[in-house]
Amino acid sequence: MKNIDVIILAAGKGTRMKSKQPKVMHKLAGRPLLDHVVDTAKSLAPKNIIVVVGHEEETIRDYYKESSLTFVSQKEQLGTGHAVAQATQHLTSSRTLILLGDVPCIHPDSVKNLTECTSDVAVLTQTVVNPKGYGRIVRNNDGYPYKIVEEKDADQEKRLIGEINTGIFCVDTTLLKKFLKELSNNNANEEYYLTDIVEFASNANLKIDTAEPIRKYEATGINNKRQLAELERTHQLESAHRLMDSGVTISDPRRIDIRGVVVCDADVSIDVGCIFEGNVSLGKNVSIESNVIIRNTVIKDNSTIRAFSHIEGAIIGSQNEIGPYARIRPGTESKTLVKVGNFVEVKATTLDTGAKANHLSYIGDATIGSSVNVGAGTITCNYDGANKHRTIIEDNVFIGSDTQLIAPVTIGAGSTIAAGSTITKDVPPDGLALSRTKQTFISGWKRPKK
Ligand code: UD1
Ligand code: MG
Repeated sequence: MKNIDVIILAAGKGTRMKSKQPKVMHKLAGRPLLDHVVDTAKSLAPKNIIVVVGHEEETIRDYYKESSLTFVSQKEQLGTGHAVAQATQHLTSSRTLILLGDVPCIHPDSVKNLTECTSDVAVLTQTVVNPKGYGRIVRNNDGYPYKIVEEKDADQEKRLIGEINTGIFCVDTTLLKKFLKELSNNNANEEYYLTDIVEFASNANLKIDTAEPIRKYEATGINNKRQLAELERTHQLESAHRLMDSGVTISDPRRIDIRGVVVCDADVSIDVGCIFEGNVSLGKNVSIESNVIIRNTVIKDNSTIRAFSHIEGAIIGSQNEIGPYARIRPGTESKTLVKVGNFVEVKATTLDTGAKANHLSYIGDATIGSSVNVGAGTITCNYDGANKHRTIIEDNVFIGSDTQLIAPVTIGAGSTIAAGSTITKDVPPDGLALSRTKQTFISGWKRPKK
């Protein structure tokens, strides 16, 4: 454990987001902005992580109720300096790192560069093409930083400065406590700015250091929906590049969304428009066609997921062919060489080797044996309005098209169900079950007329 505490500022309303939700709970890559910052904080193994919350704080506290974070309330949001002051009673280390809940992409290594500075006040800064909206780093003729001026307080000349304050500081804790008491809100926003501590330090002839983040986009702060969407794309492009560097073929790295962790074996290919959520693992030679959504799923070697399929909470065996337009729901597990075709929904079902359901079916709460063929339009009627029941289809069964299997029901191995049947009783093995009226014919039948 390091001799450092981390404060994360997350109390602001985020007025510019035009949303009822606290700003830091808006999502980047499927997780709240704050979550990304908490991860960075944890990677440093600090003594304490203190999160300052205020606006809609219950939502945030509730989300983290299982965590070991310390929360403090800032009842009125009077500025970043005032926010830090709410947390000082929890500081027990010699240095304090301050992170912003709305600057989500700061890499742990960038923060490490900052925490390794030995100066009294260290600021993470970055020179950007468009500094609009950020605090500017003002340096003297010798190049030493001596103050930070916020956009609203900056004159024309200072607004031209391209070096911005990322909002991330590492400060000697004793000094921080002292400086916070001296802050005033005599500025354009009438807020207590944390950034003023730089000027205090320079007035006291203390050492101020700056460090730069490793990657260009890390400093991006999220204040509105445009910035959020832009950062999302940058973040996604970065994730796509990482997968490509590990050998995955991605048709267009700008058209993929990874909201979680995707682990890929050799020669995986992913076409455009796919979304991956939670933990997804793709085996060797897995091919994912376009516009597929996969959530918390394992797909084993040499399987193909065809376009527009939706897979969640499943284990897909090797050499499977799923889709196009298949919906695989939680609790589905398939063995080798299984086929699930278009407009087939499968839920809480196991499919043994070589089983097929190629068209237009609902298969729920079922056990499907090996080499079973489920014909088009088959429905497992698993729900009686109160309870769910299982359908068991043993090996080598052939279910004819448009069959309803009223669960609980078992179809014995090797049997055939005639098309159009409604099966209400267990079927013994190796026979034919059929339950439909015999075809009759009325010659010269006249249709009713108006
Ligand atoms: C702040 C910095 C600016 C910097 C930018 C980087 C100040 C005065 N300005 O501006 O120099 O370039 O971040 O993105 O520090 N917050 C609270 N309580 C408050 C006010 C804010 O907890 O009373 C939290 C917010 O929830 C947010 C963070 O502090 O997570 C930053 O606040 P925000 O209002 O977004 O500051 P910026 O205008 O972006
Ligand atoms: Mg901000």
